[in-house]
Amino acid sequence: MPLLSPKDMFKKAYDGGYAVGAFNVNNMEIIQGIMEAGKEENAPLILQVSSGARKYAGQNYIMKLMEAALMDADLPVVLHLDHGPNFELCRDVIDGGFTSVMIDGSHLPYEENITLTKKVVAYAHDRGVWVEAELGRLAGVEEDVHSDVHIYTDPDQAVEFVGKTGCDSLAIAIGTSHGAYKFKGEPKLDFDRLHKIAALMPGYPIVLHGASSVVPEYVAMANKYGGHIPGAQGVPENLLRQAAQSAVCKINIDTDIRLAMTAVIRKFLMENPAEFDPRGYLKPAREAVKDMVRHKIKNVLGCSGKA
Ligand code: G3H
Ligand code: 13P
Ligand code: ZN
Repeated sequence: MPLLSPKDMFKKAYDGGYAVGAFNVNNMEIIQGIMEAGKEENAPLILQVSSGARKYAGQNYIMKLMEAALMDADLPVVLHLDHGPNFELCRDVIDGGFTSVMIDGSHLPYEENITLTKKVVAYAHDRGVWVEAELGRLAGVEEDVHSDVHIYTDPDQAVEFVGKTGCDSLAIAIGTSHGAYKFKGEPKLDFDRLHKIAALMPGYPIVLHGASSVVPEYVAMANKYGGHIPGAQGVPENLLRQAAQSAVCKINIDTDIRLAMTAVIRKFLMENPAEFDPRGYLKPAREAVKDMVRHKIKNVLGCSGKA
């Protein structure tokens, strides 16, 4: 099956009360782990590439890896640009075959976010490509942007922003954040705000970034085998399940992939100090990505069997 637009995927997710996982990819093993999980669960998948991942792997390698991944997969798969920082990068991945892009103008003044998003929408829509935009600001670290504070998305402004830009889906800020340190105290999300936004834009797909649950087993494993990730805390899975049943159609997960791989590699190398064949540790790392993604699909996103 060729790469698809998320359009039908999101319509089904919205109507069916589940979400599709958007998993960040950087290399072959991560792509393989996610694809195997999708196949075993018969689930739709979004594989997303940040500008940092594109720089690391190279767009040509990513496209060829995706081509290989799709050869024996009978699944709907979207290839998405995560946190596109500017028009030029969105244009380049659209020209290269991505089926969906995010333009992230969330750090810009409101009017500038509108102008930039509109420009990307015009280019993308002429070529049948989906556009996700962001309004509001997540606390935490992204490659080039750091914010100490959340700026929660204003529901009325969200309606105006979507109307003015024509973006196809909207990432909102309701309390999640990127990385492994999401909450200092008790984790909570602003569901009232989410429901208000959903009520104002019925049928419109909402995106949740920063949605790793920071799986405690992998944090403990990483720390046990020489890591130092104290106080890591993610979004509890019951909150993510609740979000997945609402207008949230896409849930972004990167940190959990990083943690699963790193924890397993740390364990393997500590337990096998004489091993120096990368296949020795990349194989269990790939397996851990698959198991973690399967768990998300089945128990958190609710998209098992929805391919
Ligand atoms: O939201 C950011 C994603 O986790 C991607 O991270 O820019 O380090 O690849 P990255
Ligand atoms: P996490 O850091 O919670 O995995 O979020 C990833 C993300 O939002 C990618 O855009
Ligand atoms: Zn994000």
